[in-house]
Amino acid sequence: MYGLIHNSLRDMMRTHLGDDEWAVIMQTAGLSEKDFLSLKSYDDSVVLSLLGVTHARTGRSIDDLLYDFGWHFIKRTAFAHYAGVLNMHGETLWELLGNLNHMHDRIASSFPDYRPPSFQLLTTEENSYELIYASSRQGLTAFVRGLLDGLADYYSVVIEVTVVEETLTDQGQLTRFRLTTPETK
Ligand code: HEM
Repeated sequence: MYGLIHNSLRDMMRTHLGDDEWAVIMQTAGLSEKDFLSLKSYDDSVVLSLLGVTHARTGRSIDDLLYDFGWHFIKRTAFAHYAGVLNMHGETLWELLGNLNHMHDRIASSFPDYRPPSFQLLTTEENSYELIYASSRQGLTAFVRGLLDGLADYYSVVIEVTVVEETLTDQGQLTRFRLTTPETK
């Protein structure tokens, strides 16, 4: 994945755990980069080993770490550096969720050969949506949950996210989320 992701993870870890602990995590993972290059692609194993070492040192589950990372990515990376692109693709949470593929396409020229996920938003009933997430990777459902809750918080919308179905395939993974707003409860 592109270094933009790694730098966001680094910022979250440094904020939550401190610079010294981050240095130990990097060293334990066998990594020496002070900064990752945002526009350089690194092997996915880099993110996975950083999460694995953090799990071993803090006892927090990988899914909890991924959830926090999703939230952090939205608040501290996406809206901090790409607000223009995000606002261009949606004035509301639902509009943005319906435009995520266009949004990732729009920035593709900055990230050659990247493999962003695809999303499909379906309205099932009033105030209830199904979001289908398809990825060439596996194991990132908790990251997406964090992204969704971070986005809902940004737009000041209360949502409840449940996983309806999760399928691992040779090509990656497909997850169906149900998103409801309080009016439907
Ligand atoms: C404008 C802000 C955003 C930028 C610049 C951005 C950029 C990226 C980049 C560079 C990757 C790594 C892909 C790779 O290296 O192969 C990525 C992955 C990803 N993005 Fe975005 N993204 C943004 C917003 C979002 C939003 C709002 C969502 C969804 C709610 C999202 C969902 C994801 C997910 C789930 C991945 C992980 C890859 C996977 O699932 O296979 N992104 N994004």
